[in-house]
Amino acid sequence: MPPQHDGAAVLEVRDLEVAAGGRVVQRGIGFDLARGEILVVVGGSGSGKSTLLRHLVGLEIPEAGSVRMHGLDLHHGDPEALAALRRRFGVMFQAGALWSSMTLGENLMLPMRLFSTLDAATRERRARERLAMVGLEDGFDLLPAALSGGMRKRAALARALALDPELLFLDEPGSGLDPINAARLDELVLSLRRDLGVTVLMVTHEIAGIFNVADRMLFLDGARATMTALGPPSDLLASGPDEVRRFLRRGADSGVAA
Ligand SMILES: Nc1ncnc2c1ncn2[C@@H]1O[C@H](COP(=O)(O)OP(=O)(O)O)[C@@H](O)[C@H]1O
Ligand SMILES: [Mg+2]
Repeated sequence: MPPQHDGAAVLEVRDLEVAAGGRVVQRGIGFDLARGEILVVVGGSGSGKSTLLRHLVGLEIPEAGSVRMHGLDLHHGDPEALAALRRRFGVMFQAGALWSSMTLGENLMLPMRLFSTLDAATRERRARERLAMVGLEDGFDLLPAALSGGMRKRAALARALALDPELLFLDEPGSGLDPINAARLDELVLSLRRDLGVTVLMVTHEIAGIFNVADRMLFLDGARATMTALGPPSDLLASGPDEVRRFLRRGADSGVAA
């Protein structure tokens, strides 16, 4: 399947090798992410999806290979340029990781206070607006402990949107959500791309939304410790490697991929 790079490459990953706990979990990872593209990363539990994501956002140094973001080497660049780069992407980690002693409003306003020049009134207005985008319009004064798991996920997504990122990394944003809220989240991701031109790299283990959301899908094989497929999900369902077709068919068969 030829890659579909119809825009400028926001992210260029080359021959990346990543380790967790002293063990290489993936190697030979290579792909470009085009501006405005939605790429979904899938693979079995423990295949290294979250590990890959931590490397793609510069939190960990790869064993080998490179990641360029907006043309800059993410792991070996000039520290000032990297700090500027970090303001241009948002991340939502798998665990959500909201500050438990802060209200949702405070959680969202913190990155704005640290990394932007927005004044207090604008910070509050934007925090309320982002919470409303994820269906938490009444959540501004709530503490994370008062929320369900699904609401916490959405709050973490709202926080990832706080600085108007051009590029968004999401680690299993839909897990723990009921199907209705998972579908809503997919719609939100699509609207972010449509209305704001946001580029998205999203880890998921839920096949349900992949066909709706993903332009391309990257499949990580845990046993072989490398990627075994990259392409539009419908192409991979039709003619991908066996294990990838099996993976996608499970979603199609469960009747939720419509
Ligand atoms: N901090 C860590 N210490 C030791 N092993 C880890 C650590 N983080 C992840 N691993 C291991 O690395 C592998 C990949 O983990 P992870 O990237 O979390 O997989 P996934 O997100 O695909 O479920 C797993 O075998 C996991 O147990
Ligand atoms: Mg994970």
